[in-house]
Parts: sequence; structure tokens; C-alpha cells
Amino acid sequence: MAAMQQISDIGALREQVRGWRIAGERIVFVPTMGNLHRGHLRLVEKARDHGQRIVVSIFVNPMQFNDKDDFNAYPDTLAQDADKLTEVGVDVLFTPSVAVIYPDGYQHNSQVVVPGLSDILCGEHRPGHFIGVTTVVAKLFNIVLPDVALFGEKDFQQLMIIRRMVGELCFPIDIVGVATERESDGLAMSSRNGYLSAVERQQAPLLYRELEQAKSRLLLGSERIEVVEAEAMEVLQKGGFRPEYFTVRSRKDLSKAEGNAQDLVILAAAWLGKARLIDNICLNSG
Ligand code: PAF
Repeated sequence: MAAMQQISDIGALREQVRGWRIAGERIVFVPTMGNLHRGHLRLVEKARDHGQRIVVSIFVNPMQFNDKDDFNAYPDTLAQDADKLTEVGVDVLFTPSVAVIYPDGYQHNSQVVVPGLSDILCGEHRPGHFIGVTTVVAKLFNIVLPDVALFGEKDFQQLMIIRRMVGELCFPIDIVGVATERESDGLAMSSRNGYLSAVERQQAPLLYRELEQAKSRLLLGSERIEVVEAEAMEVLQKGGFRPEYFTVRSRKDLSKAEGNAQDLVILAAAWLGKARLIDNICLNSG
């Protein structure tokens, strides 16, 4: 296996990708913000099923942080991340600087907006967040020009927004969602888990347990969705969380679930200490 190249320059990356494309190879892309955990590495492993060449980006995107302190505190673990990616067999690690991605500052950059979907749930609690995500992902897509891109299902709303952006803006890219990787106690793997204290780490699996519990109750069919949602919020509060939402939504457009509708997902976001955790569980499929 050839050594992984690390490239920070757009021209050099395009040159490399053009060579692969001329050779008839499919390019698979995994965008990340670094601080890589097993969930990210799973995305890379899955990437192999979709093409011959794998590009991973690490770019901590200032435009998607609605809180400057959160951006400044985001861990920089590039050396360890590069080692992990070398081990799983990535072809190129793309590590552009903020100046490369936003030469005139992100405040002056053109924006990609997916209306509606970006304004609810996490978008409501983190104003501007998804505009930052869709803008940087569109830029990265135009730089890397992949055939396929992979995203984790833990960020379910992000995945839906990116799918919609790709469809509506006609990017010729297949978007693949990859199932959430979990710790043995059910906690979804996340870069944010590193912000939890030892005590909070013990409390954290309650979020997924409540999602599972809500799913079991709703599948019995005798309880009202609003009652289950409200009780889950209460359990999380009592368990030390500051929940933002716990809600049953359509897997097609994230609209509120009605009665016995199909194709539903339960989504939750809650703060535990300094960590904002999100998770979701499929309730039923269409
Ligand atoms: O999910 C993430 O890590 C980020 O939102 C992404 C998709 C890499 C864009 O910065």
C-alpha cells in the first residue's frame, strides 16, 4: 500500500485527483474536523467499498461554530489523526488552512443555504451552524470532486441537509450514511465525549437509553408521542442533562410525527456539563 500523502494546497490536491480520474479510479471522500475516533475510522473503512481512492479532509471549520470559545477549544490532534488514517489506508489527507478555504474571511464568503431543514432542531439551537456546514461541504466537494462522500448517521440532520443540498444543487456525488459507532454502554462516539468529566461519562449513556426506551414504548402503539417526548425530557433533566430537544420526526423531511405514521426517527440533543451530545434512533421504516 502506498504511503498516505498529506496535502494542504487546493491545486496540488486537484492535480492528484485528476491523475486518478484519468486512470479510471473512483474517488471517495470523508470530510472531518479531526480529533478522530472509531466512528470516523469506520467511515474510512466503509469508504473502501465505494471506490479505489480515499481522500479524508481535516478542517476545523470556523464558519459552523456559533460559539467562538467552542471553536477555540476544539482539540487539535493532527499528528495522532494522521497516524490513525495511515493505519487504515487513506490515500490523501487534505488539511487546508482557514486562509486556503476562506481567503477573505468566512464572513465574506458566499453562502450555501438549505432553507427550512437548517432552521429547526440543532439549527434552532445553533443559529447559522448548518449554513457553515453546507458552505464548507460544498466548497470541499468542489475542491475534491469525489464520486462518493460518506457521513455518519449520528449527525442525522446534517446528513439530511447534505443530501438535500446535493440533490437540489445537482452535485454529481452519491451521499452514503454510515451507522453510528457506539461505546459498549451505548454512548454514541463523538469528539465531544472528550469534554465529559469522569462522573458525566457515567451519566452520558442515559441519552441513548432514553431513545431506546422511547422507541419501545412507542412501538407498543398505545402511548401518545407528545407524552413520551415530554417524559424523556424530564428523565434526562433528572439525570443531570440540560436537554434541548427529544422529538419524533419524519425521516424524510424532519417534520413532526403524526399518530401512527411510518418512517420515523427519534432525535435528541442535550448538554451534559460542557459537552453538547446528540443522538438518534430509527423508530420504524417506511
Ligand atoms: O460532521 C463534521 O465533522 C462536520 O460538520 C463536517 C461535515 C466535516 C463539515 O465541517
